[in-house]
Amino acid sequence: MVELNPQTTPAWQALERLAGHYARDFDLRQAFAAEPKRFQQHSVRAPHMLVDLSKNLWDEPVVEQLLALAIQMGLPERRSQLLNGEIVNHTEHQAAVHAALRLAFTSGTVPALPAMAKNCADLSAMLAMAETVRADATVHDVVHIGIGGSSLGPELALQALRPYWRTQQRIHVVSNLDGHDLAETLAQCHPAHTLFIAASKSCSTFETLQNLRSATGWLQQSGINPSDRVVAITANPDVAQVTGLKHILRMPADLGGRYSVWSAVGLPVAVAIGAVGFRELLAGSAAMDSHFAQTPLAHNAPVLLGLLDVWYSSFMRMPMRCVAPYHHRLRRFPAYLQQLDMESNGKTVRQNGDVVGYSTGMALWGEAGTNGQHAFFQWLHQGPQRTPVEFVAASQAEHALPGHHTPLLANAVAQAQALMLGSKAGHGQLPGHQDFPGNRPSTFLLLDGALSPSALGALLALYEHRTFVSGVAWGINSFDQWGVELGKELAKDILQRFADGNRQGLDESTAGLLNAACATVETQL
Ligand code: F6P
Repeated sequence: MVELNPQTTPAWQALERLAGHYARDFDLRQAFAAEPKRFQQHSVRAPHMLVDLSKNLWDEPVVEQLLALAIQMGLPERRSQLLNGEIVNHTEHQAAVHAALRLAFTSGTVPALPAMAKNCADLSAMLAMAETVRADATVHDVVHIGIGGSSLGPELALQALRPYWRTQQRIHVVSNLDGHDLAETLAQCHPAHTLFIAASKSCSTFETLQNLRSATGWLQQSGINPSDRVVAITANPDVAQVTGLKHILRMPADLGGRYSVWSAVGLPVAVAIGAVGFRELLAGSAAMDSHFAQTPLAHNAPVLLGLLDVWYSSFMRMPMRCVAPYHHRLRRFPAYLQQLDMESNGKTVRQNGDVVGYSTGMALWGEAGTNGQHAFFQWLHQGPQRTPVEFVAASQAEHALPGHHTPLLANAVAQAQALMLGSKAGHGQLPGHQDFPGNRPSTFLLLDGALSPSALGALLALYEHRTFVSGVAWGINSFDQWGVELGKELAKDILQRFADGNRQGLDESTAGLLNAACATVETQL
């Protein structure tokens, strides 16, 4: 692989020259006055949605250079590698097969590569298992245990697709090591009527194994054999077998954890919406994969969004991005995106290990609208720094209550407008206090219809590819996550110290906290 440093590309240097002006002098209001077709020029259509990028602090010269940067950083080649299932994760010498898998699965033909054919067969096995669970009248509750990518995607999809559930079974997701999470769930279930799904790609994640231990203990107390009531999902089936579990579904080892929902880890979602619904979810994501693969870069939604992030983070010095889904069922979307984007692009070294000399992945946060309006929107409108906001809304609601959906959409559109336009305090008002500076950027994603399985699939794939695009432009590896390892290692050490009282080698603060914690909790290893 050719090692690329974006700072040495002509496009990066051109963008640096442009940045001063756009950070200081560019005014969205003037831009709209000067370009009567700005909305048309800076909005694109993608499967299931319109993406309006016109209220951003950019213009043709910037977009042109960002597109040039994408080319100079080899995006077209890297995109083909990703979509063909070739190696893109160089620190782990692996592919990242999420898109290749769903493209292969939805095409209906047997993939040429045996490994991909096996992945497709594993996905079919999961869908068959989902139908078996759905048909089992003894299962009243399904408890999915996993964490990070092994829970966030399923949790989001279960919530987002509630009107599409085709089962009476209740489905819960437990992720936290904090026992309150599992205890609250178990309190709603009966051991004879509960099926557990334990999802862990590595089969070694402490949180998931501890929750599984507690769940199997709960079954055993009622005389139930856990191997009858637990389905394990992992890329390490040998390890799962050692525990005596007999229902094991395989997920690909070269599918990144944050893309797990496209694998057997999607089982709780398939139980909820059925195999037919899950295929629609996959079809929506594959439609976005095709858009990403085939649409010219200048009209390619994930490409433009990914490059926008590069522009804001590296050139406009905006370290954060706010996501405001104006859809109650997308209220976990910010949490899902935090893993997708921050675990992927929270990096400060390039592929070859060189430290970058520029900002990379942004901090991402948000809350569903309109709730967020009554919390942090004050800061967005009048706070000391500008943060780009992303509105996500669906044209159609799926409830029968009049008087809600149109006002909801009106609020989303008005917030984007207010951020851009701002206003000056009028006569009788309080200057300063009632001034809105405006010129604050936002992007608007409007789903054509309702938040259906296929629309959700397209939305998730859009964000996945966007994250990949910015990673390529930054020259970083978006598919590893070494940054999570140190904390896990140290937690093992600290846990041991709870038991043996050893404080040797600890800094004073850590030792002090440990002593305080030991004094108040009952030690449990
Ligand atoms: O700690 C981060 C991480 O490795 C994620 O990337 C992953 O989604 C999560 O942990 C769970 O991992 P596993 O599926 O192996 O239990």
